[in-house]
Amino acid sequence: MKPIFRNIMMSAALFGAGTGMVGQVQAAGTSHPALTDKKILNVAHRGASGYAPEHTLLSYELGEAMKGDYIEIDLQMTKDGELIAMHDETLDRTTNGTGLVKDYTLEEIKQLDAGSWFNEKYPSYAKEEYAGLKVPTLEEILQKFGSGERYYIETKSPEVYPGMEEKLLKILKEYKLTGTNVPSSKVLIQSFSPESLKKVHALNPDIPLVQLLWYDETAAITDNELEEYKKYSIGLGMNFDKIDEAYVQKVREHDLLIHPYTVNQKEDMRKLLDWGVTGMFTNFPDRLQEVLRENRQ
Ligand code: G3P
Ligand code: CA
Repeated sequence: MKPIFRNIMMSAALFGAGTGMVGQVQAAGTSHPALTDKKILNVAHRGASGYAPEHTLLSYELGEAMKGDYIEIDLQMTKDGELIAMHDETLDRTTNGTGLVKDYTLEEIKQLDAGSWFNEKYPSYAKEEYAGLKVPTLEEILQKFGSGERYYIETKSPEVYPGMEEKLLKILKEYKLTGTNVPSSKVLIQSFSPESLKKVHALNPDIPLVQLLWYDETAAITDNELEEYKKYSIGLGMNFDKIDEAYVQKVREHDLLIHPYTVNQKEDMRKLLDWGVTGMFTNFPDRLQEVLRENRQ
């Protein structure tokens, strides 16, 4: 049996085939039908960040063009309380600025060049249009891509940014991405911080959450830990290089989604799909599309 078929059969089990729940995943007391439109989620990690400077509008555009199911966005907060898309707490790696994001206003951060570093680091993917790109705010991203897109948003360093979760939920509501009659799968919120996720869950229990984990040696997880995560999240994301098939199966047996990060090589994609993951984060969403297509043939 080709891996994809095995995976779909396993997904059907996960999503309740035979129990009248096909197409639904039940977590934390909430069902999320639209999450199961497509069983394997292709998450454009920081946009299509293998090809364009991460967390720029051009990177997200490419992610969308390459048929990523979700745009992944890491959030940091400026001195004046604006949520911006940036992975690091500091400006140094992905802009020509220096220092902590929290020490600068949005106006100051908007002066920075968030694209030239990419051209220097990855000359084979360099483009003139990347030079001078700006750091986008969350609102700018939502304005540009609208409610037709899906967003997989991470609260980064929430302990550094009090009020980050409230601000995020306020914006999502303003842009009609949460609330009555909005498919809950439009937005997934992820974090390494259980406290941040539990806060979001308390503020709005309808938003699907994903707990991120990091392993520096072979991954192991207990039934108790999985049940604890399941109280507020619908799935887990973890570095793919330390997990194995038994780990994936154990997560699935607890009816949790599993989205490893950051998977950029086709061989790794194929292996993870064979093990039964329900999606993955990749800097190369086109490669994952190709692997999914191969598996369907
Ligand atoms: O959010 C999934 C993955 O992106 C977590 O790691 O460091 O790339 O945000 P990081
Ligand atoms: Ca992330």
